[in-house]
Amino acid sequence: MSFVSVSNVFQSYDNRPILQRVNVEVAEGEFISIVGASGCGKSTFLRMLLAQERPERGEIRIAGAEPAREPGLDRGVVFQKYSVFPHMTVRDNVIAGECLRTRWGRFFGAEAKAARDRADETLARIGLDHVADNYPATLSGGMQQRLAIGQALAAKPRVLLLDEPFGALDPGTRLAMHDFLQDLRAETGMTVFMVTHDLEEAFKLGDRVLVFDKPRWDPTDPSRYGATITYDFDARDGGIPFQRLEEETHVLEEH
Ligand SMILES: Nc1ncnc2c1ncn2[C@@H]1O[C@H](COP(=O)(O)OP(=O)(O)O)[C@@H](O)[C@H]1O
Ligand SMILES: [Mg+2]
Repeated sequence: MSFVSVSNVFQSYDNRPILQRVNVEVAEGEFISIVGASGCGKSTFLRMLLAQERPERGEIRIAGAEPAREPGLDRGVVFQKYSVFPHMTVRDNVIAGECLRTRWGRFFGAEAKAARDRADETLARIGLDHVADNYPATLSGGMQQRLAIGQALAAKPRVLLLDEPFGALDPGTRLAMHDFLQDLRAETGMTVFMVTHDLEEAFKLGDRVLVFDKPRWDPTDPSRYGATITYDFDARDGGIPFQRLEEETHVLEEH
């Protein structure tokens, strides 16, 4: 039984097809890397997984439930640009990750105290407990991105969506974030979808690597067809060996 089921999904904007006939089945706990040229619809796909927008056709089911109408606490998301709130302390940012999407947008009384304790647990896990009372501007890029992940994790989502989460980090910090993400995943058993421009990162972290591309291309009308999943690589140990090919990387990093 698959956990995330994407069936025959289409999306278009202003009558321009972006994604067409997207089908994929994902088991609970799998780590799915997504690569593809810029503008091919990867972020659009994540927004639909998050239920921030609905597919034009087809449906996405998680854990067998009816397609979600709006983002819920079962899905967390992290974007490349730090999504933390600059006017809130590190701890309050984590609390916000959990409560902003609840009915009242904040916690009261005993609930607030419990949320604070949970936030402190999350902060310890992401190694930011010593800066809980600081503001994000005082943190390094890697720490801010860890905070963004902590914010997404605060509600204990079953699905974590990462949109080029480490793209803005320097190589050393990026490697530290890889270890962090791998530990976190081993601990929580979350299902992860991560978009990246870095093929090495895609194969290192992913169990599978999905390639989004246009299966058909009309040179006289490039926006005529949408993209779909053209490859689904097994990237687990013993999967296909992967070597970095510079030409291919350039194509993928075209912007
Ligand atoms: N809300 C929107 N309205 C209109 N066009 C959009 C919208 N969101 C994305 N697009 C367009 O859809 C295409 C796919 O975008 P996106 O999913 O962001 O691609 P990727 O993440 O692969 O770079 C792009 O051409 C983008 O300009
Ligand atoms: Mg994108």
